[in-house]
Parts: sequence; C-alpha cells; structure tokens
Amino acid sequence: MPVVATVREVPNLGTKKVQMAGQELLLVNMKGVFYAVETECPHQGAPLSGALVKDGYLACPRHGYRFKLADGSCPDHPELLLKTWPVRVEGDEIIVDLG
Ligand code: FES
Repeated sequence: MPVVATVREVPNLGTKKVQMAGQELLLVNMKGVFYAVETECPHQGAPLSGALVKDGYLACPRHGYRFKLADGSCPDHPELLLKTWPVRVEGDEIIVDLG
C-alpha cells in the first residue's frame, strides 16, 4: 500500500490534505493516532481541512457537526456518514488502504 505522508507532516490535533490514486484524502492526527477521511463534509460539502480535532471527533467548521474519526459516524445526525479509510503507521510513514 502506498505511503501518503510522514507523521511529522500532520500536526497534532490537525489535518493535512493529500492526494492518492486520484482521490483526495484528509489525514487527521488525534494525539498520535492517524485517520484518513474524506475532505468535504457529508452535510453540505464544507471543506474539512480547517476542522476542529478533539476527543476522537472532527467538527465541521461550517455548522459544527461532529464526526467520529474511528468510523465516520455522526451521533447527532445518524443519517450522515463521513467516509473513512483504514490507516496504518510504519515507522514514520502513514499508509492508507483505499480498498
Ligand atoms: S457543512 Fe458541515 S456541518 Fe454543515
């Protein structure tokens, strides 16, 4: 599986947008645990690169809906789902499985 970034490129409690196989992904660093999610909010498409990362959730900057990083679910709006991809870290490399 391809390496999309190194751990140093994604700030703690921050995000980094990357491209992989023609797909844009948002990498998220939750205190050293990395996630890969889609770059736009499933609610009304706001860019998520400026989203707040806190307590295992990503909060959309537009309306504040919170998405669970582990599975993309939205507890307040269960009809919404943020797409996520499996991530693993080897050394300082972040590897995403696009499936
Ligand atoms: S566009 Fe993200 S919560 Fe509305």
